[in-house]
Amino acid sequence: MNFENIILEVENQVAKLTINRPKKLNALNRATLLEIHEALKTCKSNDEVKLIILTGAGEKAFVAGADIAEFSDYTVKEGMDLAAKGHALVFDYIANFPKPIIAAVNGFALGGGLELAMAAHFRIASKNAKLGLPETSLGVIPGYGGTQRLPQLVGKGRAMEMIMTAKMISAKEALAYGLVNHVCELEELDDKVNSIVQKILGNSLQAIEAAIKAVNDGYVDGVNGFESEVEAFGKAFGTSDFEEGTTAFLNKQKPNFK
Ligand code: COA
Repeated sequence: MNFENIILEVENQVAKLTINRPKKLNALNRATLLEIHEALKTCKSNDEVKLIILTGAGEKAFVAGADIAEFSDYTVKEGMDLAAKGHALVFDYIANFPKPIIAAVNGFALGGGLELAMAAHFRIASKNAKLGLPETSLGVIPGYGGTQRLPQLVGKGRAMEMIMTAKMISAKEALAYGLVNHVCELEELDDKVNSIVQKILGNSLQAIEAAIKAVNDGYVDGVNGFESEVEAFGKAFGTSDFEEGTTAFLNKQKPNFK
């Protein structure tokens, strides 16, 4: 598939989706959001893809936000439509994706860029990364899930401060906040991500899919995450991966999940 604003590469069971507008610090315009959706749809149906890494092109930015030039003259209705479509096509789609999605944050992750990283299942950052939600400095609020996912990840007080001040935090601060799981040198980011990817790929992806859903269910209004867990836990006993995993353990062997 040919994309103009992203690069999708699949190798050794892993899809790498790179937002590729480095001259605009990988800002997310509508075309880019549509391409991200299309690429993820392809990854969902492609059995060869077990896991997705999201990153940005160049050494300066992961994604520096929604494309400000594109929405600067939007009406109220267009603004609402932009946010709603973004949630459905990209941000919620990523958060609820059945295969692991990891954000490799290699520079500025601002506004929609931080929201993209926060929609991913977890984040690994390079030392040069700067993260923030600068929307209130533009007279708008985070519209791609930032008001919800940031408090979930760092707590309400820190999220409120980040949103109100519109300030960027360093990778080190983001690590202390729990916003990113690991920080490393930029040139070591690929290796760091890959070492975690290999650990994940050694586990049951059937079980991981069920776990992603159970974790996410705890954040859905009206859904009892504990009940979801009980149901998914029970269902796991009927899977081929459960048979493989437990048999291998009891025979003191490594499991070979299909
Ligand atoms: N939307 C549209 N274009 C963007 C952008 C965005 N969110 N972020 C950066 N760009 C563009 C700049 O306009 C510039 O384009 P130009 O060369 O055609 O003028 C190019 O990317 C490089 O950015 P520049 O501002 O020159 O780089 P810098 O190193 O001086 O500053 C930032 C980097 C990230 C601090 C600065 O680009 C910035 O504040 N960006 C906006 C961040 C933001 O508010 N995001 C939330 C949007 S809701």
